[in-house]
Amino acid sequence: MEKLKITGGNQLFGEIAVCGAKNAAVAIIPAALLVDGVCRIENIPDIKDVRLIIDMLVQLGARVTYIDDTTIEVDSSNLKTCIAPASLASKMRASYYLLGALLGRMNRAEVSLPGGCNFGTRPIDLHEKGFRAMGANVEITDGIVYAQAQKLCGATIYLDTVSVGATINIMLAAVLAKGKTIIENAAKEPHIVDVANFLNAMGANVRGAGTDVIRITGVEKMRGGSYSIIPDQIEAGTFMLLAAAAGGEVLVRNIIPRHMNCLTSKLEEMGVNITEYDDSIRIERNGKLRGTSVRTMPYPGFPTDLQPQIVALLSTVDGKSTVDENVWDNRFQYVEQLQNMGADICVSGKRASICGQKLHGAQVTATDLRAGAALIIAGAAAQGVTEISSPHYIDRGYSDIERRLRSIGVKIERIFEAD
Ligand code: EPZ
Repeated sequence: MEKLKITGGNQLFGEIAVCGAKNAAVAIIPAALLVDGVCRIENIPDIKDVRLIIDMLVQLGARVTYIDDTTIEVDSSNLKTCIAPASLASKMRASYYLLGALLGRMNRAEVSLPGGCNFGTRPIDLHEKGFRAMGANVEITDGIVYAQAQKLCGATIYLDTVSVGATINIMLAAVLAKGKTIIENAAKEPHIVDVANFLNAMGANVRGAGTDVIRITGVEKMRGGSYSIIPDQIEAGTFMLLAAAAGGEVLVRNIIPRHMNCLTSKLEEMGVNITEYDDSIRIERNGKLRGTSVRTMPYPGFPTDLQPQIVALLSTVDGKSTVDENVWDNRFQYVEQLQNMGADICVSGKRASICGQKLHGAQVTATDLRAGAALIIAGAAAQGVTEISSPHYIDRGYSDIERRLRSIGVKIERIFEAD
């Protein structure tokens, strides 16, 4: 059995660079299917979810060339099918972007319902609402989504819930549609803006990304080009929270500081010293920290994808804290693992109430990607040894994690035990 073994209790020092944004890459790579030409995509993170989505493009007939570990060229001139490989698509959430891209390019798509982290129901009704509004017929049979249209036509679509996936998927379907599409109550995450910038770099006409109204005017065709993906806001936040929990002084490099504002202000409230530079943030934690309250919200609110990680930090600081999860209906499943390490956390409905104290090492299991990251943070802060099973969840979103964390002083190694 594969585990990550962490010996906690020492402070961290040094610099760590952040990779390209996972949740931008898993949308931008399928978006290349809309382009009848070659797209060069740089700064992609070398993680499992990216390799999986690339495999799916290849099976659809795109030609993908690795220029180096973080740069690919995608040629979608000769796609051979609009049927996504079900065995791969059901393994991750972002495979739903193949729906918008294939529908937009070929007026037809067959994609299995997405998989991905299981923390509550993960519907795609808003994606379907957008495709139907543009004239597509959408049916779900035996776990496969069948979508087709004569020709997609622009429409005005109001998203009842702010949804990252639905916002991006509707954008993908709309860029080659006839006429204008307006997405109201759109999500505003940095990766939404990154996908819109990629589409515009390839000849699309997308305006307003980053606000709650996005206007897309359909174009006849999209051309090839080059694009570099933004740094990962969630990976950056994970490293900032790790440094705050373990203590010491760490420079988190290759980031966009304004994307971190909600976390930066929370950490300052807690007593962490933070210095912002053009493309990096220095985290200094020497003394005791104070508890605080956190409410996850769509961007620019506190990101739900940093919720497990900040719960891990709050479990180790003196005082009482609360964390409200307002985006997902069941994203506290990992708390049990932190309780195995001595954390005093009580979950009731949307709220986790925390009474911080010293944690001790334990045998724990990652239950999803960000829960795994939370266990690394708790393990680095705890006294003793923590062994994390199911590290494959962590590998879905954090590349080369042991080597990178060792570079700032985390005592971490990957071990393989006979089952
Ligand atoms: C994206 O998931 C991210 N995944 C998630 O990150 C992230 O937690 C989430 O956005 C919120 O920021 C990717 O980008 C691949 P949503 P997504 O649609 O698009 C409801 C990670 O750790 N909803 O914004 O699936 C839904 O139930 C992952 O990197 C509908 O009701 O999230 C949820 O309550 C985990 N109907 C809320 O909207 C729909 O059709 C937000 O979901 C779609 C969503």
